[in-house]
Amino acid sequence: MEEFDTTVHTELSGYALTVLDSVGDGVIVISREGLVTLMNPAAEEMTGRSRRQMLRAAFKDSFASEPVLVEMVERTSATGVSLSDQDNVILYPSGRVIPANATTCPLLRSDGEAIGVILTLRDLTSIRELEAAVRQADRLSTLGTLAAGLAHEVKNPLGGIKGAAQLLERELDVDSDLLEYPRVMIREAERIDKIIRQLLELASPRGPRYQPVNLHMVLGDIILLQRESAGSREVSISTGFDPSIPPIMADEAQLTQVFLNLIRNALEAMPEGGRLTVTSRVLAEYQLARNENRSRMVSVEVADTGPGIPAENLPKVGTPFFSTKDTGTGLGLAICQKIVADHRGMLKIESKPGQGTRISVVLPLIQSPAKG
Ligand SMILES: Nc1ncnc2c1ncn2[C@@H]1O[C@H](COP(=O)(O)OP(=O)(O)OP(=O)(O)O)[C@@H](O)[C@H]1O
Ligand SMILES: [Mg+2]
Repeated sequence: MEEFDTTVHTELSGYALTVLDSVGDGVIVISREGLVTLMNPAAEEMTGRSRRQMLRAAFKDSFASEPVLVEMVERTSATGVSLSDQDNVILYPSGRVIPANATTCPLLRSDGEAIGVILTLRDLTSIRELEAAVRQADRLSTLGTLAAGLAHEVKNPLGGIKGAAQLLERELDVDSDLLEYPRVMIREAERIDKIIRQLLELASPRGPRYQPVNLHMVLGDIILLQRESAGSREVSISTGFDPSIPPIMADEAQLTQVFLNLIRNALEAMPEGGRLTVTSRVLAEYQLARNENRSRMVSVEVADTGPGIPAENLPKVGTPFFSTKDTGTGLGLAICQKIVADHRGMLKIESKPGQGTRISVVLPLIQSPAKG
């Protein structure tokens, strides 16, 4: 039995090993002496360490850069108590950052004696992303209520200004030098009006009006229209749609607005030309919230080869009024975020300065009940 402690790996049946190798969570077993006796592929991937190097090495030394894990393993080993931590564990396998949930529990022999510790690691990346999307949606709803009140107050006086400017324009001689002034007033009043309409849209409490939507048809129509304006700018557009995606329950008008905003942003980012890629795919399971069932999600990705978004701007993008464009309202992405959140999905923004930007719209794959 003594030998069992350090050679767990070879004493397991082939079947048990296959099961462990297939588990999505990382599993590491540490013997009473503190040596690693087992490590599955998910643990290799999440920790960026190879099983070959780790087996029979001292866990404390091999994971010195992960003091939280070392401490958990030592405490469970000393006290026999199971521990769990999901706030302080961050793994850094080869350049990536993975927030993780770590659990340690004692490995008990059939007679109840503790012969080691089992450490399991669960990748929380997708859950953290969903949480961030929810926080952003919360911020927006407060801001939206405020904005709606303001927009409402501004709309009437603005109508008065525009009307007066139009009267003035009509009163002036066709070749008057002064004609330029009322025209500027009308143009700028129209611009404010557009901002206010978008703000009201952002603040609108109206939820999605669900109906079956064929995402590929919506995307195809937008791309067809945008191709015209892109053509002159030498932007090539390519698409890659997963044909197995069925119509999903969503608000077609709202989703059209989302994809239109994203595709416009992508084209505006490539005034000198480039490549726009629009793709769709089904994602593995995502857990939306603790009390909700797991559901499949679809992801529509809009990628461009523009200059990308500088790291310091990334947190501001999608905040109402953040724009780096002369005539931008900075409401486009905020509206996208609200609509996608209303659909219980999320918007994921990835950008590599100098290489381009990829924005993913992740939506629940809910099918019409009639179709089952
Ligand atoms: N594909 C992209 N590539 C580079 N930067 C982008 C991209 N999409 C958005 N951005 C940045 O995010 C900012 C906010 O985008 P958003 O769509 O909300 O507003 P806007 O495009 O500036 O104005 P509007 O949409 O009202 O015309 C942009 O000004 C730009 O700096
Ligand atoms: Mg925009």
